[in-house]
Amino acid sequence: MNARAGQPNVRETADAMRPSRQINIILRKSDSDGFGGAASSIGTETASGGRTLPQHGPWAEWQRELEKLTGLDNVKELVYEIYALLQVNQLRQEAGLQSLSHVYHMIFKGNPGTGKTTVARLLARMFQGMGLLSKGHFIEVERADLVGEYIGHTAQKTRDLVKKALGGVLFVDEAYSLARGGEKDFGKEAIDTLVKAMEDYKNQFVLILAGYTLEIDAFLLTNPGLPSRFPIQMEFPDYSVDQLIQIAEGMVKEREYAMLPQTLFKLRELILQEKAESMYHFSNARFVRNVLERAIRNQAVRLLSQYPAGSPGRQELMSLRPEDVRTN
Ligand SMILES: Nc1ncnc2c1ncn2[C@@H]1O[C@H](COP(=O)(O)OP(=O)(O)OP(=O)(O)O)[C@@H](O)[C@H]1O
Ligand SMILES: [Mg+2]
Repeated sequence: MNARAGQPNVRETADAMRPSRQINIILRKSDSDGFGGAASSIGTETASGGRTLPQHGPWAEWQRELEKLTGLDNVKELVYEIYALLQVNQLRQEAGLQSLSHVYHMIFKGNPGTGKTTVARLLARMFQGMGLLSKGHFIEVERADLVGEYIGHTAQKTRDLVKKALGGVLFVDEAYSLARGGEKDFGKEAIDTLVKAMEDYKNQFVLILAGYTLEIDAFLLTNPGLPSRFPIQMEFPDYSVDQLIQIAEGMVKEREYAMLPQTLFKLRELILQEKAESMYHFSNARFVRNVLERAIRNQAVRLLSQYPAGSPGRQELMSLRPEDVRTN
């Protein structure tokens, strides 16, 4: 079991999105976004390129999903780079030039609740839609899923998981724990098996190693061959208080609730307090989500006692009041 989430470690997400190789759609609406040069002119290609720009379809949909995420500019930039690459590859192919396959294994570094798992799941679906992965499912594992109890067991367990992940994303959380026990630990066998699988199943799956920045950096130092196998390294910085408030507003809206100005003020205070008290354990957006879910429960209890008979009405059903927002 995954101690943190209280769920099984291996989670597979079936992907309902149909595969599409259609890439001639813009991801960004204008080129005033800092993407200069060739990529921008491709990105803003409209009727001038003789191609129509569907208002729907996968790229437009993914852009909407990315826009829902606060911050994470590096992730948004990566998606744009991949878009540009696919687009240019297609043009190269049309021009009779070769288009080489690309390596997309990644390292995600960041504190708890900074969006690592969320982004990895989204990328799995996107990669499938872009035709880079055949299935786009997502398998999240941690040390206990990979490491066995006797010699040979670890390699077998790890290989089985890689096979399950073929066509999708294999996400190894707290990856540094694989190097925890040193040379004699079976964790090393898991790393070696993963590295071998990266060669054996080139381009058939994407491996993402995730963990806290310092620990991942230390982990990469334990094996000099590792960093170069992960050409994409992403930092997931802690969110600022303003970003956390923005994330909260998005979560509240999505759930069809609303916060009064005083509620927002109270939430901001709670975030500041929690950030100060648990400097190294602050769980960023997850803290916000937990506080809001608790507020929703508190609101339900409050409404039932305020309106023992009859409905409070739509407005009251939506409103989270400052007294609902508390951590105890
Ligand atoms: N940028 C964001 N915008 C909106 N919601 C976010 C953002 N980042 C994270 N969240 C939300 O915060 C919660 C925690 O995110 P997630 O599980 O992806 O964090 P994590 O980095 O994987 O954490 P951990 O290291 O503890 O596993 C999720 O509900 C997610 O939807
Ligand atoms: Mg996670």
